Order: sequence, then structure tokens, then C-alpha cells
Amino acid sequence: MPATPKIQERVDALHELLHHHAHRYYVLDEPEIPDTEYDKLFRELQELEDKHPELLTPDSPTQRVGGKLLEGFAKVRHKVPMLSIRTETDIEASGARNFDGRVRRELGLAESDPPIEYVAELKFDGLALNLRYEDGVLVQAATRGDGEIGEDVTQNIRTIGQIPLRLPKDVPAVLEVRGEVYIRRDDFEKLNELQREKIAQGAKGEKTFVNPRNAAAGAVRQLDPAIARQRPLSFFAYGWGEVTPPEQGGPAFAAHFEALLTLRSWGFPVSARTQLATGADELIAYHQAVGQERDSLPFDIDGVVYKVNSLALQKQLGFVSREPRWAVAHKYPAQEQLTTVQAIEVQVGRTGKLTPVAKLAPVFVGGVTVTNATLHNEDEVHRKDVRVGDTVIVRRAGDVIPEVVSVLPEKRVPGARIFKMPANCPVCGSDAVREEGEANHRCTGGLFCGAQRKQAILHFAQRRALDIEGLGEKLVDQMVEANVIKALPDLYRLGLNALSSLDRMADKSAQNVLAALEKSKQTTLPRFLYGLGVRHVGEATAKDLARYFGKLDAIMDASAEQLLEVPDVGPVVAESIHTFFQQPHNREVVEQLRACGVTWDEGEPAARAPKPLAGKTIVLTGTLPTLSRDEAKDMLEAAGAKVAGSVSKKTDYVVAGAEAGSKLDKARELGVAVLDEEGLKELLRGRT
Ligand code: IVH
Repeated sequence: MPATPKIQERVDALHELLHHHAHRYYVLDEPEIPDTEYDKLFRELQELEDKHPELLTPDSPTQRVGGKLLEGFAKVRHKVPMLSIRTETDIEASGARNFDGRVRRELGLAESDPPIEYVAELKFDGLALNLRYEDGVLVQAATRGDGEIGEDVTQNIRTIGQIPLRLPKDVPAVLEVRGEVYIRRDDFEKLNELQREKIAQGAKGEKTFVNPRNAAAGAVRQLDPAIARQRPLSFFAYGWGEVTPPEQGGPAFAAHFEALLTLRSWGFPVSARTQLATGADELIAYHQAVGQERDSLPFDIDGVVYKVNSLALQKQLGFVSREPRWAVAHKYPAQEQLTTVQAIEVQVGRTGKLTPVAKLAPVFVGGVTVTNATLHNEDEVHRKDVRVGDTVIVRRAGDVIPEVVSVLPEKRVPGARIFKMPANCPVCGSDAVREEGEANHRCTGGLFCGAQRKQAILHFAQRRALDIEGLGEKLVDQMVEANVIKALPDLYRLGLNALSSLDRMADKSAQNVLAALEKSKQTTLPRFLYGLGVRHVGEATAKDLARYFGKLDAIMDASAEQLLEVPDVGPVVAESIHTFFQQPHNREVVEQLRACGVTWDEGEPAARAPKPLAGKTIVLTGTLPTLSRDEAKDMLEAAGAKVAGSVSKKTDYVVAGAEAGSKLDKARELGVAVLDEEGLKELLRGRT
């Protein structure tokens, strides 16, 4: 069928669109549309070109394997081209049968012939790399580029701990290992959290990354190796390129799996999920099993890959255009999709953090239907410029909370309004504040705010605070949900009836909880202060405050300036304590707790008490003969010392008891003074 002008027009438009998006994806590592949208446009063009071959030009985006090259890296011609794999279009597990069927047909096998042996692998969602070793030394790392010519990224790759720089003695003279460089999901979250903090602190030119693959690609292709080094990259090997042939002393592999095991023995990470599978049924089973595990894997995969195991059969099967006939990619539902934002709500987290959340038109992403996606904080909403009515890319990978990745600006409805963070907590109405240098707004309602109540109770009850035995997460959940406890003091008003009416609460355990509550009433000022869960007030600060002021009322009435006088209390902490006790409902909670009988010995302001160990840093390790770890810590802190968790050059003393381990070794290595319990007591008496 001859092409009409309209078809020609569409083909031109598709060229332009695909060139644009390929540039965003491959060169800038900043895609504007999800992969599935790109694939759709790509397929549309492919189909038009199939129907009207006269429209196919050599510069068509369909004629290119990979992307363009970034200026600034040396070019590398691959000795063996880096090919791509064909994707099985049937996304159901049964799609594996299509591949097996094709392979058997190509090989001319009859139904009665035995099943084919495959290797089933994960399809890692990162960036393909070729690592070249000569005489066992890494000499070059290159990206795939367009398959023929890639970029020399050796400097950046050298910083990846999982990639060996030197191999054992028995490796072939030339060895090219191929695999995927990627970023683990937890590393990705941390990286973006860090980026968000940098942005909050006003750093210029910083951005968050849209997904782990883009972050990995960006890191590998980062022109500054110092920046690349800060990105947490990982690597899996799944193949090879040029290798010294057997006649020149190279390895004589007969099968893919065997070769991967050898690579593993040479120190390359090969996924534990890479395994043999015989026949279509086992491929299907693999696709299903991995599909179920996908969310709990520590990294993103977009599918699985099946490869014919026998290298002789691979050779026999050969290639069509630039794709091997012996391998196929079998995908899972995409982890990024387009949808629209119907509203932006603000949720209050367990620590009072206010998170803007996009309410979405339901969309199927990463295997589930998503209706909410996090927007993290106010800066992120503004940086991405997300507004109600916008068409956005949402991403859901693993059990990580779905997030809005970016907006499609051309789809914005006129008049869409810029988001503004509310001035008050949407749950309790207290002031919402954003501290300087902080990315997040927080509700100042503290214990009074229902959203924070569960966490507040657990914090109050924990061992190092009021130490209420038996008051764990399940019980607290039930109490708050049944509305038995609206504020902390309600804990001490619980009767046996209220407690035993909760689900699965036997009389005996209810009695135990009541006894534990009773016991907890006799406490200490530092424990009580810490238990209140004032932001930035950890155990050490609570002790400092108690020691400095002696009495709770003095702390509650202190100005931010007075609080600043406490050793180790800085402006952020002082402001936080002051704001907390300025909120009438927090003062009310304290009063009620006291009225319920929570009590402690108050002391005199001890600011002027001698501090023989002020400025000293001490590490405790092992078991001391008579003092518990907490007792020793309390005594040291009372004398002005800082008790640290790890030994460094700055450590003044290590106090070591029985079965002291690596900390003692480290102290000896660094020449730090080591004391036993007797030595510690001497030190406290000011005699050492
Ligand atoms: S094999 C000739 N195995 O998927 C076969 N590729 O288009 C070459 N990928 O760019 C590739 N996991 O980056 C192979 N287990 C795996 C893979 C894998 C991810 C990527 C690779 C390549 C693309 C295939």
C-alpha cells in the first residue's frame, strides 16, 4: 500500500519524537516519558516502516541499537559487537513457550526430541558494560553505546568495589566480561534522600534521580570520577565478549552456564538467581517464581532472560538482524506508568513529618494498582512542579512507596495551581514548621497529634525511657485504634477491663501490663525527658538537660538562649525544646503524667559541679566485672565525658571488659589508652 502524505507526516513526527526522547534517555539520562511510552512510539514507527518500506531511511530511530555517545569520553570500538536481545511480546508466563517453540523449530527438532536446556537469568535494569582484562588486569571498561562503539568509562568503573581490578593467575590473556552495572533500591533511596537534603540546603545544580537505572547510567557516564565515586554502584556479570580462543590457551567452554560459573570463580558477581532450566515448563516456572519475588529483590529487574545453554546450539541458531535467536527477554509489568494527579493531600507520619501525597487516577504499575504516590516534601513538589490535574510518570518498584517521578508539561491543564504546604497540621491543627536546612515540614503537635500517638507511646514505653515491659507494637496499635488511649497519660488510667477487652489479651497478660505500668511510674528525670520524644532530644541530651537544670519545671520554662548554655546543646536543639514546651498541650500532658503518679527525684542545678572528664571521648567494650554498660555510661557522662560507639584517633580511652573484641584491637592498633574497670574508677576519681 503506497504511503499517503498523512502517513509520511506521522513517520516524520515519530522520527522527531523518538530522536528527542532517545537523546533525553541515552545522552542526558533524564527521560521525560516512561519506557513503555517510548516503546509504543517505537513500535508504531516499526509497523509503519514494515507496511511502507519506502519510508524507511537509514537515519530512522529504528535503525539504531543503543544511544548516542556523550561528548567527553574516548570512543571504544567493541571487538565483538554488543547486541541487544529480542523481547517476547506475550507478557504472561506462557510467553516462554513461544520462545522454546521458535528455538525448536529453528533447530528442526521434532516433538519427540528431548527438551532443550536453557539458562534462566534475571534481566537487570541498569547499564550494560564491557570489562576488558589483559593478563588479568582491568585495562578498559566501556558502555555499549550503539553496539559497535561505546564510551571509555574505565576511570568511573574502577571505583565499583564489586568489579575486580586484578584477576587470579589462571585467567585467559584476553578476557572481556559483560554484565550490568546497577544501583540497589536501598542505595537509590539513600542517594535520593541525600540529594533532597542537598537541595534543601540550597545546593545548586543538584537533582534527584528518576529511577535506579538512570542514577546508575548517570554515575557511569559522569565526567567527574570524584562524583562517580560517591554513587553506590553494583555489578552482575551475565556474558562475555572477546576471549583468548582455546587454540591459543584460552578456555574451551561448551556451555553458557559453565562459563558463568567460571566467571564467578574468578571473582565476578554472578546472580544466585541464574540457573539452568530444561524445556518450556521450567522457563515458565522460573518466570512465575521470579515474578513473585520481584518486589522483595534488593534491585530492579524488568524481566527475565532465557538463553540456550549449549554454545554449539547458540552458534547453530545464529542471529537475525542484530539479535541472537538463542536468547529472549521476557518482561514483567512496567514499573513506571502515566496517570493524572487528582489531588495533593498532606499526610502526617509517625514522627510528625508532613508528606505531600499525590492522589492518582488508579493505574497498574509494577504489578499492582496504585492510587497514591509520595511527593516527599515541598521542595520536591516545586522542583518537579507537580500540580493538580497534571499528567505524571509514577514509579513503583519493590515494596518502596510509589512516587511521582516527573510531570509531562505539555499536558498541563490551563490554570493549574502551584502547590502550597499548609501552615497547620491537617490532623491536629498545630503549627507546621520547617526548620532551617531541613527538607521537611513537621507538625509541632507532638503527643497531642493523633498521627504521632502510636510512635510517641512506643517511644515513651521503650526500655531506655519509661521501660514499660510488655507494651509492644501490637498492643499499642490496638490501643490507639480502639481509642482507649488518646494521649500518653491515658496509659496510666487504663483499667483491667479496658485492657482485657482488647483482642487476644488474656487477663494474665493484662495484669502484667498493669504491673509494668505501675512500676514505670518511679523513674528518673532523664528517662522521662527522653520518653517525651522531643525532637532532637536523645538520651544524651536528656541527661545533659537534667544535669544542668536539675528540675523539669526549669527546663520547661527555659528560653532558647538559656537552653543554649547547656553543654552540647546547639541552636537547632534549643529551639526544638523551647517550641515543644511552648505548646500548651505538651505542658498539659506533662502535668497529667505527674498527676497520674509518674515521679522522679529532682536535683539541684549541677552546672557548676566539677567535670573531670569534660572533653574526653571514651569507648566501652566487653563486659565489666561489676558495672553494667549503662551504669558505666551514666557515670562517665556525669563526669563530662562523651561515650562513643567506635574507636578512632580521637578516642581518649577504651574501657575494656571480658570478651572485648574488635574495638580493643583497634585501640591497640591506634595506640589508644586501654583501661579496665578499676582504671575507669580511678579515672572518675580524677586520679589518672
Ligand atoms: S544478554 C546477546 N543477559 O538487557 C545478548 N542482557 O537488550 C546480550 N540485560 O543491554 C545481552 N540483564 O544491558 C543479557 N541477564 C541478562 C541481562 C541483559 C539485563 C540488558 C543488557 C542489554 C539488554 C538487552
